[in-house]
Amino acid sequence: MRSRLIYASVALISIFCVCAATIGCGQVASQKQQKTSQSAASPEADAPAQSVDASKPLELPGLHNVIRVTEKLWSGSGPEAEEAFQSLKELGIRTIISVDGARPNLELARRYGMRYVHLPVGYDGIPGEQSRRIALAVHHLPGPIYLHCHHGRHRGPTAAAVAWRSLDRSCRAEQALALLKKAGTDPRYVGLYEAVRNADSLPDEVLSGPVPEFPEITPVPAFVEAMVKVDTHWHHLQACRKAGWKTPPEHPDVVPRHEALQLLETYQETLRLPELQDHPAQLRQWLEEEVQQARRLMELLEAMPTDPPAVEAAFVRLQEGCKRCHAHYRDVPDPVKPMP
Ligand code: HEC
Repeated sequence: MRSRLIYASVALISIFCVCAATIGCGQVASQKQQKTSQSAASPEADAPAQSVDASKPLELPGLHNVIRVTEKLWSGSGPEAEEAFQSLKELGIRTIISVDGARPNLELARRYGMRYVHLPVGYDGIPGEQSRRIALAVHHLPGPIYLHCHHGRHRGPTAAAVAWRSLDRSCRAEQALALLKKAGTDPRYVGLYEAVRNADSLPDEVLSGPVPEFPEITPVPAFVEAMVKVDTHWHHLQACRKAGWKTPPEHPDVVPRHEALQLLETYQETLRLPELQDHPAQLRQWLEEEVQQARRLMELLEAMPTDPPAVEAAFVRLQEGCKRCHAHYRDVPDPVKPMP
């Protein structure tokens, strides 16, 4: 699955202008504090910086898994509702970088006086060109910067860790990997871990060289757009399940069987995408199976009287469908075609 290479190539057509380099990544904030407090008492005050502190990521209104990576850089989940932008404002954030496939909420960001930059990456690793662009965005754009994916667990912390290593020579692989651990990045995303392990600091001439243009929106392949939609309906279904297969209190507009229907329709639309012809036959077959499974869930949700164990089984089966396909086609670096 290489369609996301388009991300890198589309964004490559960037206009360049020359600007002076601004401050890069500092050290992890907590490390600095740790160092300062150590310096009076401990002879190891000048020892290399420690790994990210073991405290839990922050939960703020509208934002999850929020971690301060360096003085200039934060990582966390995508801001959805307005309260999330309020939280970002309270953190003093001036630039938001999204690395997921969803369209950033430019309107809300503007209203809160923040600039949005969209540099999407997949789950199977971060191509060198995109790593560099993300690091340069963190280097050049006004901070503090909030870098996010959807949940703030996998792609976001990885991109933040890669930027940190690219901009701070003293950041060792173990420190950056500790950030992934703190964020809860699943070790099954081997390509993400590799991206952090292989990240290298950017040479001075790149840091002080031309500044790429950083797009507000980067077009993503139609397949990725479809997956973002699948994900939205899936989240709604999860919320319905939690609410005993009723409309969840936090989403008064969500109706369980409508969500199942929309999941079914989104899978059908995905199957009709012309680009699907370039995908493996097995992936298409699995999508067809998911259409049937989504229909089954919808019918069970419509049935009277309801059959809760059957609904639960249908939901779990659909969940397995996401995992099965991702494990094969999304989450692993492609052994055949190497990343550019
Ligand atoms: C038949 C295969 C298949 C099924 C079923 C499937 N996916 Fe995906 N999904 C993919 C592939 C492949 C990608 C990576 C696409 C790319 O980046 O080019 C992906 C990407 C995603 C993404 C990342 C989008 C982004 O921001 O880049 C999300 C989120 C996602 N899927 C959620 C789900 C959920 C939730 C389900 C189940 C309800 C699901 N998918 C079912 C194949 C599948």
